[in-house]
Amino acid sequence: MNEHVSIPAPANEAAHCPDSRPNTRKVFIKTYGCQMNVYDSTRMGDALAGEGYVTTEDMGEADLVLLNTCHIREKAAEKVYSALGRLRDMKKERAAEGREFMIGVAGCVAQAEGEEIIRRAPAVDVVIGPQTYHRLPDALKKARNGERVVDTEYAVEDKFEHLPATEKKVIRSRGVTSFLTVQEGCDKFCTFCVVPYTRGSEVSRPIGQIIDEAKRLVDAGVREITLLGQNVNAWASEDGKGNAIGLADLLYRLADVPGLARLRYTTSHPRDMDDRLINAHRDLRILMPYLHLPVQAGSDRILKAMNRRHTGAEYLALIERIRSARPDIAMSGDFIVGFPGETDQDFEDTLRMVEEVNYASAFSFKYSSRPGTPGADLPDHVAEEVKTERLERLQALLLKQQADFATSCVGKTIDLLLEKPGRMPGQVIGRSPWLQSVNVDAKTSQIGEIISVRIIGTGPNSLFAEPVESLIEV
Ligand code: 5AD
Ligand code: SF4
Repeated sequence: MNEHVSIPAPANEAAHCPDSRPNTRKVFIKTYGCQMNVYDSTRMGDALAGEGYVTTEDMGEADLVLLNTCHIREKAAEKVYSALGRLRDMKKERAAEGREFMIGVAGCVAQAEGEEIIRRAPAVDVVIGPQTYHRLPDALKKARNGERVVDTEYAVEDKFEHLPATEKKVIRSRGVTSFLTVQEGCDKFCTFCVVPYTRGSEVSRPIGQIIDEAKRLVDAGVREITLLGQNVNAWASEDGKGNAIGLADLLYRLADVPGLARLRYTTSHPRDMDDRLINAHRDLRILMPYLHLPVQAGSDRILKAMNRRHTGAEYLALIERIRSARPDIAMSGDFIVGFPGETDQDFEDTLRMVEEVNYASAFSFKYSSRPGTPGADLPDHVAEEVKTERLERLQALLLKQQADFATSCVGKTIDLLLEKPGRMPGQVIGRSPWLQSVNVDAKTSQIGEIISVRIIGTGPNSLFAEPVESLIEV
């Protein structure tokens, strides 16, 4: 998953209104890490809504602060501990005022550190893992009775079965695009990665549960759904007659949900891109022409040491097949520089791979040694300065490719999903099929519509467009 988001969970509508319910409590959820954590934060909000909590974007007015943490790179846990130091001080101030203030730690640091969090930060009331957050209300009740709760078991029950459905008005307040987790965990064991240890082995949500959630989202105004999974294209289930089905089948089923206009999925592993999934990109117009398919490195030696279980040539051949199925597809990826043993030549292979693929967007990181992963025990760790220098070179190339891709869009007429008000009055920000932000003159009442626009320019992080006459879909 991409680890580049750090936002508070969106506030639900009620948070902006004076308290209408008796005993309304407010929760501030700080989300670190990937899109899956963003989704989990919204579902934690759902779990707490049943207890009378509304979400707030203002930590100052919160009665409960939840840190939904990420453990993918080093210093993550340290960042959490320093945030907890500040929260401890807030808790003391609140106690002096006689007000409740509870602190919860959720997500992958909670899973990895468990009891240690309470030991190092005794002000914490609840530590809850990614598989047990449906039990948050119970944990908070216990904590109110003076217990310190650490709940990081892999729950035997399915948390999604136990979470209340998101309220319609809350879905509305979150906008016209939505994440939907369909798969969790990972069995790939890349040697640099903590995910198989923090999120456990691969589990797929049942198709019926996913379709129901998608319908509820669409019913509340969502037009675009991004299916999430640590390894989303490993999603697997059966069709009710005992036949195995995969992500492609799920996409075909979701394509029939009335009112749903766009589908995406992320993050995929190259080994799980099967022919049916590639054909879905050819057949389904609803499936947006954008694919995040991390390769991590270009050198076969490093790919082997990373346990990616494919070569650079195999990855390139796969991309060729995907591009011949869907020629307008934009590729995105993740890269790690400075994996143990990476030589200058290995790094040059990564640059060559990037040149060959020509990415529309990408995320790149310095290798970060994670205790407990096989990579941490490998010899020949790369010096920090070398990692820095390689990352700069790689990012310069990736940024250039991203800018070239944006420039290549100028003059094109595209479908734009109007998503949210723009910075200027009379402007709306939309989302292109290739996941770019596009500014266009439109009315905020049009949010949720897909309109036809012509791209007329590029900015640092977005494009500019003008509407073309025909409204292609409302
Ligand atoms: N060090 C650096 N980057 C990592 N990633 C995962 N683990 C590490 C690590 N130990 C990157 C990978 C992955 C993305 C989500 O984070 O590129 O695809
Ligand atoms: Fe981590 Fe590799 Fe699994 Fe992705 S596929 S979550 S990088 S172990």
